[in-house]
Amino acid sequence: MSLLRKKDVSVMMENKSHSKLARHLSGFDLVLLGIGAIIGTGIFVLTGTGALYAGPALPVSFIISAIVCALAALCYAEFSSMIPVSGSVYTYTYATIGELVAWIIGWCLILEYGLASSAVATGWSGYFQSLLSGFGIDLPAALSAAPGAVPGSDTFFNLPAFLILMVITFLLSLGIKETKRVNNVMVLVKVAVVILFIVVGIWYVEPSNYTPFAPFGISGVLQASAIAFFAYLGFDAVTSAAEEVKDPGRNLPIGILGSLSIVTVLYVVVSAIMVGIVPFKQFEGVDSPVSLALKVAGQNWVAGFVDLGAIVGMTTVILVMTFGLVRLLFAMSRDGLLPKVFSDVNEKSHTPVKATWILGTTSALIAALVPLGTLAELINIGTLAAFALISVAVIILRRTRPDLKRSFKVPFVPFLPILSVLACIMLMLNLQTFTWIAFFIWTAIGLLVYFGYGRRRSKLN
Ligand code: ALA
Repeated sequence: MSLLRKKDVSVMMENKSHSKLARHLSGFDLVLLGIGAIIGTGIFVLTGTGALYAGPALPVSFIISAIVCALAALCYAEFSSMIPVSGSVYTYTYATIGELVAWIIGWCLILEYGLASSAVATGWSGYFQSLLSGFGIDLPAALSAAPGAVPGSDTFFNLPAFLILMVITFLLSLGIKETKRVNNVMVLVKVAVVILFIVVGIWYVEPSNYTPFAPFGISGVLQASAIAFFAYLGFDAVTSAAEEVKDPGRNLPIGILGSLSIVTVLYVVVSAIMVGIVPFKQFEGVDSPVSLALKVAGQNWVAGFVDLGAIVGMTTVILVMTFGLVRLLFAMSRDGLLPKVFSDVNEKSHTPVKATWILGTTSALIAALVPLGTLAELINIGTLAAFALISVAVIILRRTRPDLKRSFKVPFVPFLPILSVLACIMLMLNLQTFTWIAFFIWTAIGLLVYFGYGRRRSKLN
């Protein structure tokens, strides 16, 4: 029975009011935090690969993934308006389903936030090095990528990826106010660049590029939506900031749903314009598809701006994902399931400084030393598992605790949450066998840690 023990929601709310973290974030800041976490490698790097699967139907793939994410986002919004506590879906399952499932879900989210920040740092490094080589500066091969990342080349350490993560870790350790300021500026730059692409690119769309519309049928469109799904990840990281938000019951749903809606519109328009300018087959082997479209249109100077925007854009993704990771381990450690050092709050910056440095340095070393290409799908499977569980949790808590005040409610319960679970399972089934095996291994390690450490030390004991 102890595996099913739950945290009392009222006690959690009580603890929250003693939280040592500082409340500096408004609804607007949260929307920017969400957009900061969302727009990155997905649109700037992976859309080229997506176009190869979906053809000109690429925007349809983006719409499908947006629907999957929107269903989960509604569930996130209900929970975050009801239990605005750090730790996101981990905390929500702790209150509804029980400790063991909460632990497993927290373990999945470590995979999402931890690997995403390292994987995006690797994408950042690629763009940065191509910018440097534009100025005639080339890094020695040994310092350009992780061992084994480039077949036939003696790569050893991805120095740019390591350094960007260390800079971000330093920024996060300064405090939430400083982090927010830098994030807001960078997000505005990134959105401006995306809008610039739309305003310039739309004039070069060739309607003939849209036929045939879906050359690889529904299955191609679905495969591309598994890739597009990655592009939307990050809106859930908004909930990690719960204890640093003013009026969280109102502002968290605004942050989650606001950022997701804005990004959906941008993604659908950008992808439609991209495949309208460039015949999709030309995206083969291209890792800067957005700027390729502008080059095809003869707008080389705008392409340069887009490259710069991509670098800034990916920086904020790394920033918010690392932030989410630190806050998640903070919550798990506060509950006694992980060592105490992760929930130690620095008196001056009101930030978990030790956790920030430990996790930031670990992510930096992973980005520098592990070739992440094959592991990227693991991020999707971990996230989809978390999305499915939060949808189940909404249904459970509506029954067990109808009394709790919900400033935001998912419409059509239980139909929408059930649809959300089915949609997540559908996308999970589209992932490779290798990803499933790696996911099971990760979960098994998590169970060992729980039974070897967390179960005995849990605060609920
Ligand atoms: N959505 C984030 C990106 O596309 C993870 O980089």
